[in-house]
Amino acid sequence: MPVSAAPVEQVVERIEQAGPLDPVVKAVRRIVTAALRPQSVRDALHGVWLGHPLHPVLTDVPIGAWSAAALLDVVPRTGPASATLIAAGCAGAVPTAVTGWADWSQLHPPQQRVGLVHAGANVLALGLYTASLVARARGRSLTGKALSYAGLGAVSVGGYLGGHLVFRQAAGANHTADTIDLFPSGWQPLGRLDDLPDGQPTKRTIDGVDVLVVRRGQHVDVLSNRCSHLSAPLSDGSFKVESGQGCIVCPWHGSTFRLADGAVVHGPTTSPQQLFETRIESGNVEIRLPGS
Ligand code: FES
Repeated sequence: MPVSAAPVEQVVERIEQAGPLDPVVKAVRRIVTAALRPQSVRDALHGVWLGHPLHPVLTDVPIGAWSAAALLDVVPRTGPASATLIAAGCAGAVPTAVTGWADWSQLHPPQQRVGLVHAGANVLALGLYTASLVARARGRSLTGKALSYAGLGAVSVGGYLGGHLVFRQAAGANHTADTIDLFPSGWQPLGRLDDLPDGQPTKRTIDGVDVLVVRRGQHVDVLSNRCSHLSAPLSDGSFKVESGQGCIVCPWHGSTFRLADGAVVHGPTTSPQQLFETRIESGNVEIRLPGS
């Protein structure tokens, strides 16, 4: 007997497919893209410098502070401490939201629809917590507590949707992580050097694993072909030289990887591409995973 999704999952699946959200997604995306310039700012917000998405790190600040405030609100005479935590959470929510918008702007439509509702729930939470602070400052303690519990409910909905984005829709995950498990060990034949186009990205497949090959004269660089951001085929991307280093630019969202080691030069991705070692024997190119 087929197992149907839980009601809450059905709701989220409907959000994924909610085409009527698309005009809003488009308008917000245009604003976010225009606001988050230049590229160095976007890279910093994605977390390229950290080697990990920055947004999930920052979410700990508002969620942690607001959760602690909820506990303090049931303890007598802790009003000032609770208000301090709520204010800290509100302050932390701002950079958290900015990093989230940066990541969101480079996702697929079903992910962006869920992300939009995720953001809406969190904006509602921020509004409720701000109103709670105002009520507390005016001496209306009970109203302040009620508003902050409502805020906790809203941020919990936002958190659920954020988890769905990452764990079900794989936004922010490393989409090339399984290369190391799928690629056969030891040196593998890639083909004749002369058969590889010079200076042009191309794809080869070994045991079902696609690899990106960029030949420049007698030198060959090989990376996993599936972009770590959202799986675009890098062989459809473009070659460019940046800071004197050969790079491949993803055709979908522009993530840029250094060919020499697969390192991330520009986001939105923060995960490097898997690098392959290469050797040329009698005109035949062979590749292997480092150390295999
Ligand atoms: S798939 Fe998004 S940058 Fe490559």
